[in-house]
Amino acid sequence: MSNIWNELEKPFLILAPMEGVTDCVFRAVIEKAGRPDLFYTEFTNVSSFASERGRHDALERLTVKPEDKPIIAQIWGKNPEHFGELAKNLESMGFAGLDLNFGCPDRHVNKAGGGAAMIRTPELAVEVIKQAKENTNLPVSVKTRLGFTYVDEYKEWLPLLLKQNLTALTVHLRTRKEMSKVAAHYELIPEIIKLRNEIAPETKLILNGDIKNHAEALALYEQYPEIDGFMIGRGVFQNPYCFTDHEPTKQELLDLFRFHLDEYDRHEKEVEKYPYEPLKHFFKVYINSFDGASDLRVKLMECKTTDELRQVIDSYENN
Ligand SMILES: Cc1cc2nc3c(=O)[nH]c(=O)nc-3n(C[C@H](O)[C@H](O)[C@H](O)COP(=O)(O)O)c2cc1C
Repeated sequence: MSNIWNELEKPFLILAPMEGVTDCVFRAVIEKAGRPDLFYTEFTNVSSFASERGRHDALERLTVKPEDKPIIAQIWGKNPEHFGELAKNLESMGFAGLDLNFGCPDRHVNKAGGGAAMIRTPELAVEVIKQAKENTNLPVSVKTRLGFTYVDEYKEWLPLLLKQNLTALTVHLRTRKEMSKVAAHYELIPEIIKLRNEIAPETKLILNGDIKNHAEALALYEQYPEIDGFMIGRGVFQNPYCFTDHEPTKQELLDLFRFHLDEYDRHEKEVEKYPYEPLKHFFKVYINSFDGASDLRVKLMECKTTDELRQVIDSYENN
């Protein structure tokens, strides 16, 4: 079976999984602006998928369009059997791989034993990896942080993960405690490369944290050519064209916003429930850093439908 990770050319770029952001609608926007080499879904809870009540929601999150491919399903939870059960189904859904979330800092997720809480339960983490691997032919990867509380935890945690024969390991260069509040620990990159080279030279190493765009990823690659790939998260909010070298004009951003609204409407018709409120988080992506942007955003915030949003944009342009 082909392995997507071996097909990607170094250095490859990935859009980071982001809950409430990287669903099929926003992926379509990024596809239009300039796609990364690989997409990840938002994280999906394995126990939701295993339950009758939660399955519908889980399946909606795991909807893949042909244009999204190649795409990796990111999953989280605590129960190893539930990881196995979901892993069994992902290949037929069109995914190229599955990624285990061992890094999410959310309090509720950690209380449920998932995300970064796995750093504190290494035996369980190993069991989860084993169950995932035993139940799929897809490549299995992990995304994690340096540690839960202390940076030095990486010295035990990353070797443990690297010993599990993972296809890829993404390291967000911060601890759970640091959230995203401090600068990513780039000073540890050489040490992390050394660990990967010594323990698991076949495992692709992906860096994440504070990389804003294609140019910054390339600069890091020049410095650290042993890194395989780079994952960009919040950089897409600053520039949705961040996977290219393109600096969009105001007109291009307004047009991309209209495209987002069209994709929103299209998807809203397809699914049972697609809330309007989260759409507001995206206004700043398109309506930013030009004269009158903040006044325009205030007007957009008052709208209640996508048609009203379009009208506000149209009248702004016609004035
Ligand atoms: C709104 C938001 C949602 C996120 N959701 C996820 C998620 O579902 N899974 C995950 O592994 N990380 C998630 N993250 C973390 C990002 O994938 C990434 O690790 C983090 O933002 C650091 O990268 P950056 O500095 O490029 O943004 C999320 C981050 C943000 C800002």
